[in-house]
Amino acid sequence: MSTVPFSSWMSEVQADVEAALSALLPAADAQPTKLHQAMRYTTLGGGKRVRPLLVYASGALFGADAASLARAACALEMIHVYSLVHDDMPCMDDDALRRGKPTVHVAYDEATALLVGDTLQARAFEVLAGDDSLPPARLVGMLRLLAEAAGSSGMCGGQAIDLDSVGLALTLEQLEHMHQLKTGALLRASVLLGALCGKDLGAAELDALKAYSKAVGLAFQVVDDVLDATADSATLGKTAGKDAADNKPTYVSILGLEPSKALAEQLRCEAHDALAPFGEQAQRLRELADLIVQRKA
Ligand code: IPE
Ligand code: IPE
Ligand code: MG
Ligand code: MG
Ligand code: MG
Repeated sequence: MSTVPFSSWMSEVQADVEAALSALLPAADAQPTKLHQAMRYTTLGGGKRVRPLLVYASGALFGADAASLARAACALEMIHVYSLVHDDMPCMDDDALRRGKPTVHVAYDEATALLVGDTLQARAFEVLAGDDSLPPARLVGMLRLLAEAAGSSGMCGGQAIDLDSVGLALTLEQLEHMHQLKTGALLRASVLLGALCGKDLGAAELDALKAYSKAVGLAFQVVDDVLDATADSATLGKTAGKDAADNKPTYVSILGLEPSKALAEQLRCEAHDALAPFGEQAQRLRELADLIVQRKA
C-alpha cells in the first residue's frame, strides 16, 4: 500500500497528464491556427481528469510503464473532451459554459467546435496507436476497445438515446442503459486500457475490472445528475439546473434526489467489493470510486 496521500498522487497524475496533453496537441502557432488554438483552449487547464486517473490507477495494478499510461490517458481524455465540445453545441445541449469558461462554439464558432471534436477524436487514436512499446496484437485490441467505447455501442450511442429521450419517462432500466453508454463506456475503457498498458489480462482479472468499472461508470453519471440538480454553476464550471430546464430524464427526475444519492453510495460499495481479489494493491482504484461518488463538482 502506498504511503503517498491520495491528493498528492492525484495532483501528480493531473500534472503529468497536463504536460503530456500539451506535448501531444498541435502547437498553437501551427497552421491552421484557429483550430489548433481551439483544441488547446478546450483541452488544457481544466477538468478533473477522472478518466486519466482511472488509467493510471488501473495501470499501477499491473506494472504498466509511465509512457504507455500517459498515452492511453491522453487518448481517453481527448475522446472525452471531444464529447463535451459536441455535447455543448446548440444542436445538442446548447450550453455556454464548460470548465468555467465559454464553450468552444461560443468562444470561437460552431464550425470550429465541430472540427475540434472531430480532430480530437482522430488525434486520440493516433496517440494510442503511436505506443510502440506494447505488443502489436495487444495494442490493436486496445484501439478496438477505445473505438467501441466511443462509438454507437458506447458514448455516441448513449448521446443519441439521450437526445431522443427529451420529455420521455424512461424506465429505470432504459435510464441505466443510456447512462452506461453515454458515460459508463469511456470510464470502463479507461480502467481496461490502463490495465492493458501493463499486461494481457486473465479472465478473472478482466471480470473484476469490468465489475468495478461498471459500478463507477454508472455512479459517475448518477452523481452528475445529482450535482446538476443541487450544485451551482460556479462550483460546477458548467450550467447547473440544465437537465430539468431541458426536460431530460435523469436519475433525479425518475428516482428522486435522495434515492439517487443512495444508489450512488450503493454503487461505491459494489465498486469496492469488485476489487477484493486485488487486495491492498487496488488502493487507488478504491480511492477513485470514493472520489467519483463523494465529489462536489
Ligand atoms: C462531464 O464529465 C460529462 C459527463 C460524462 C457526465 P466530467 O465531470 O468528467 O467533466 P470534466 O472532465 O471534469 O470537465
Ligand atoms: C453528457 O452528459 C455525457 C457526454 C458528454 C458524453 P451530460 O450532458 O449530462 O454532461 P454535462 O452535464 O453537460 O457535462
Ligand atoms: Mg448531454
Ligand atoms: Mg450536457
Ligand atoms: Mg449532466
